[in-house]
Amino acid sequence: MESNTEMAKVAIIGGTGLTSLKGLEITRREEVTTPYGQPSGPLSYGQLCGKEVVFLARHGDHHTLPPHKINYRANIWALKEAGVARIFAMAAVGGIAEDFPPEKLAVPDQLIDYTWSRKNTFFEEGLEEVVHVDFTFPYDEGLRQALISACREAGVDVCESGVYGATQGPRLETAAEINRLERDGCTMVGMTGMPEAVLARELGLAYATCAVCVNWGAGRSDGEITMKEIEASLTVGAERIRAMLEKLIAAL
Ligand code: HPA
Repeated sequence: MESNTEMAKVAIIGGTGLTSLKGLEITRREEVTTPYGQPSGPLSYGQLCGKEVVFLARHGDHHTLPPHKINYRANIWALKEAGVARIFAMAAVGGIAEDFPPEKLAVPDQLIDYTWSRKNTFFEEGLEEVVHVDFTFPYDEGLRQALISACREAGVDVCESGVYGATQGPRLETAAEINRLERDGCTMVGMTGMPEAVLARELGLAYATCAVCVNWGAGRSDGEITMKEIEASLTVGAERIRAMLEKLIAAL
């Protein structure tokens, strides 16, 4: 007999370069609304390696939503309503640590939130008492280990820990900002890691991120960061994510 957690659905949130999931046989696409508005797009239900998964494209099916315009609350609420208990979030990031170059994957174990003016909690109105959710360890350790094992099985090189610095965007950082993030302990920088992670925690969903480096952080390579270099790294990185996901889902 499977436990409730095992029977509950697994979701994959796809980031930049992963607006669709190759190999996902979609059986149903569902437009949903939530008390917080519309999610980024329809929920795609389907089978990946014979296992049931729910897929959501964070930036919308056509990658039109910038990081600060994403309705993170609607996305997480919709997944919870769909019966999801575990979320694997894919994210393209800039590399700060020397051992996290473009095209490499990382599974962060900590984060620092530099975003502002985003709707970052479900505990806002109509409360019987104020809620302060514990966030000492922002990512679920079981899901993190599952991601790391899947990378190993797929033969994909991975940083097994790291600190995700979540910036507001949509602009990239200055070189001084990247230096500051490094002093703070960040090993990678992205724009969508928060409030997604904390909203999942507030709803009691297990959540972990697999990041793919698509460029060196500002000032860490010669010249400017170009969309061309980002796209080239994404092509390779997205293939590695797909290889990892096949092992991940098969092992669930
Ligand atoms: N900074 C912030 N977010 C990012 C970057 C970056 O350099 N690359 C991909 N997402």
